[in-house]
Amino acid sequence: MLLASESANSKNGSMQNLEQRWNTDAYAANGRFVATLASPVVELLAPLAGERILDVGCGDGVLTETIVAAGASVKGVDSSPAMVEAARKRGLDVDQHSADALPYQHEFDAVFSNAAMHWLAAERHPTLLAAIHRSLKPGGRFVAELGGHGNIAAIRTALSAVLGPYGIDPEEAAASYYPAPAVYRRLLEEAGFTVVTMELIPRPTLLPGGITGWLETFRNGVLDRLAPADRAAALAKVVHLLEPILRDGDGNWIADYVRLRFSVTAN
Ligand code: BEZ
Repeated sequence: MLLASESANSKNGSMQNLEQRWNTDAYAANGRFVATLASPVVELLAPLAGERILDVGCGDGVLTETIVAAGASVKGVDSSPAMVEAARKRGLDVDQHSADALPYQHEFDAVFSNAAMHWLAAERHPTLLAAIHRSLKPGGRFVAELGGHGNIAAIRTALSAVLGPYGIDPEEAAASYYPAPAVYRRLLEEAGFTVVTMELIPRPTLLPGGITGWLETFRNGVLDRLAPADRAAALAKVVHLLEPILRDGDGNWIADYVRLRFSVTAN
C-alpha cells in the first residue's frame, strides 16, 4: 500500500491533485481487513523475540504492532506522511521513504511486507528488490504478500470500461503491479534471493464499506481525474457493472482479491 502517490508524483509532477490520496480514517473504515486478513503472512514470517525486522509499507502500523508483540525490534517504513504520522502515534519506530529508496545497509534479520509492494509500478520492482536485499543481513529472510496475477480483475475491467470513453486509462493511472508467480520468482532470483515458498492464492474479500467505500478509498486518484459533473454518474456505472459479479444474495460486496505470498532468503 501507500506507494502509489509516490509513483504518480514521479511520473508526472503536474498531476499532484490527481494522485491517490491516503485518508487514515477512510482506510480504517474501508481497509482494516488488509491487516486483519494478514495473519498467514505474519505466521510465515514467524518473528522471533530480539530479531531486527523491517516492515516495508507499514501503513498505519496496525499489523506492525503484531510483529512488535512477538518481541521483535521492528522498524516500519512508508512513503505516505499521513500513514507515518498514524503509525508513530502508536509508538512505532517509523521512517518515511519510498520502498525502492530504502537507505538501510545489511541491518535486518528479516524484511516483511503486506499489501504494499503492488502499489509500485512493474518497472520499479528490480530497484525495490535490490533495496530490500541490501537492507538484509546476509542469509536474512524476506516474507511478503502482494496482489498477484488476476487481482481485482472484475473491478479493473469495470473501471476500464467506464473510464475509457472519458479518455482515462485506470490501469495506467493506478500504476499497480500484480505479478504472476513465475515472473516474480525470476525477479527475486535476479535480485539475489533464493525462493523458499511461493503461492498464488485467490482470496475473495468482504468489503465492509461496500464497493463504493472501496473505490473512494483505493481509487480516488483515478476517479478524481473525471470532471466533477461526470464523477457521480461514472461511479454509479462502475457499481452497476460490478453488482451482478461482486454482490452476493445477502447484499455483501466481495472483491476478487488474489494474493501472491512468498518467503525467500538473501544469498
Ligand atoms: C490489494 O491489496 O490487492 C489492493 C488494495 C487496494 C487497491 C488495490 C489492490
